[in-house]
Amino acid sequence: MTIRIETDRLLLRPMEARDADAHIDMLGDPALAAYLTPNKKPESRMDRWRQFASYLGHWQIRGFGFFSVEEKATGEWVGRVGPWMPEGWPGLECGWSIVKAHWGKGYAPEAAIASIRWTFARFPDLPRIISIIDPDNANSQAVARKIGEEKSGEIFEFWEYHLDIWAAERNAWLARFGEL
Ligand SMILES: CC(C)(COP(=O)(O)OP(=O)(O)OC[C@H]1O[C@@H](n2cnc3c(N)ncnc32)[C@H](O)[C@@H]1OP(=O)(O)O)[C@@H](O)C(=O)NCCC(=O)NCCS
Repeated sequence: MTIRIETDRLLLRPMEARDADAHIDMLGDPALAAYLTPNKKPESRMDRWRQFASYLGHWQIRGFGFFSVEEKATGEWVGRVGPWMPEGWPGLECGWSIVKAHWGKGYAPEAAIASIRWTFARFPDLPRIISIIDPDNANSQAVARKIGEEKSGEIFEFWEYHLDIWAAERNAWLARFGEL
């Protein structure tokens, strides 16, 4: 698969098997697990491997999925950002997670904007993009605001949590962040 998306500082490409260790290590960090697992604690390495396999499987089944994000200056793997819509999801989501050592550099919004532009181009009839965010996750809410999403008022019940659905409407988003 030869999808490559470049931004000023980042390269986005479909997740591949070689990203397994970096991804599994990232999700072992309690600071990330606090917002990404059912009990808010890191899962076992075995379970994190299975989860990684589901991300590769998402590409196989849907033809799209999370991008691995690389820092162009160093080639370092810094996280995963991109479209995600497993069975039962309330819409086509743009998700994001960045290795903690790289938080605060604006990498998640930079990658998300490029990823959403790619997603709207790939799906010309897609009316909106969503992000599903824990009401306590201030960092993720900050990203959502930077990329033009607003809290829609809809709630997605997942595990035992009530998660907010943030959303950006296609036409308004393209008017703000650039036509395809
Ligand atoms: C949410 C996340 C992807 C943001 O990535 P990022 O590349 O750091 O994004 P930004 O640089 O735009 O920072 C976003 C906010 O995080 C906060 N932040 C930045 N650096 C931080 C740090 N070192 N420690 C704690 N918070 C920090 C700031 O509030 C910032 O908002 P601001 O720029 O308005 O001050 C990242 O925090 C993360 O991976 N969190 C855990 C996983 C997660 O929650 N994923 C999303 C699930 S919905």
